[in-house]
Amino acid sequence: MFEGKVALVTGAASGIGRAAAVLYAQHGASVVVADVNDDGGRETVKRITDNGGSADYFHCNVARVDDCEALVLHSVSKFAALDIAFNNAGVGGQLTGLDKYPLEEWARVIDINLSGIFYCMRFELQVMLQQESGGVIVNTASILGQIGSGLAPAYVASKHGVVGLTQSAALLYAKRNIRINCVGPGYIETPMMEDQPQRFKDLSLSLHPIGRKGQPEEVAELVIWLSSDRASFATGGFYPIDGGYLAT
Ligand SMILES: NC(=O)c1ccc[n+]([C@@H]2O[C@H](COP(=O)([O-])OP(=O)(O)OC[C@H]3O[C@@H](n4cnc5c(N)ncnc54)[C@H](O)[C@@H]3O)[C@@H](O)[C@H]2O)c1
Repeated sequence: MFEGKVALVTGAASGIGRAAAVLYAQHGASVVVADVNDDGGRETVKRITDNGGSADYFHCNVARVDDCEALVLHSVSKFAALDIAFNNAGVGGQLTGLDKYPLEEWARVIDINLSGIFYCMRFELQVMLQQESGGVIVNTASILGQIGSGLAPAYVASKHGVVGLTQSAALLYAKRNIRINCVGPGYIETPMMEDQPQRFKDLSLSLHPIGRKGQPEEVAELVIWLSSDRASFATGGFYPIDGGYLAT
């Protein structure tokens, strides 16, 4: 499906990003694995190359604009193109009500989850706009990009922002052969959720009609579809993948 294509994935050392990186490679893409977790990122590359795929690790803190620019330049210099970008790196942030939410934690979550996506898209688009073939961008939002959650104001604000950024960019570049969408996972079994307090995990699980947590590979399947020509009419969309959470 992606033979000859280059896919960049941020937050690819773990969870959803790793699952997507592995699946892109299984479908024939060369994958740039980006993260701040160097050991995890190299492990993702190893899983791909051990299976005969092509991948390269690049250290990138998405909260740093220079890192994001260097990441995109590296992808192009290493693989000579950038066809697909999955901007997925994110953190959950502290669970605290807004009136007591620590200012530095607010800045950290917004910097990584929202500014990180803006920085990456900014440089990815500069490359894709130069290519006749255009490109595809998928961003990771969340079900909390559509609804609130009292104890996660920074996370909720950042993910609502990701949806807005996705829609705004999709409008502007729709006629330039660049499709831009975002996915909205529910409770997915990854280290991010496993680090949350048990009462939060129990509450979260109870709100999923399907009665179980999702797996990173289930989100990756949607990301792959959105990245492929099979989704040729899909742009500007928010795609929940949440075991029915948002339908309640
Ligand atoms: N797990 C869930 O239930 C869930 C639900 C909705 C949305 N999401 C979103 O999915 C995305 C992936 O999360 P996950 O569940 O796979 O968690 P995860 O913790 O397994 O993976 C997140 C990855 O992002 C990396 N990362 C963190 N800060 C970074 C930074 N500044 N620069 C680059 N990389 C950084 C981490 O090192 C990690 O490898 C996140 O955006 C998260 O908000 C997750």
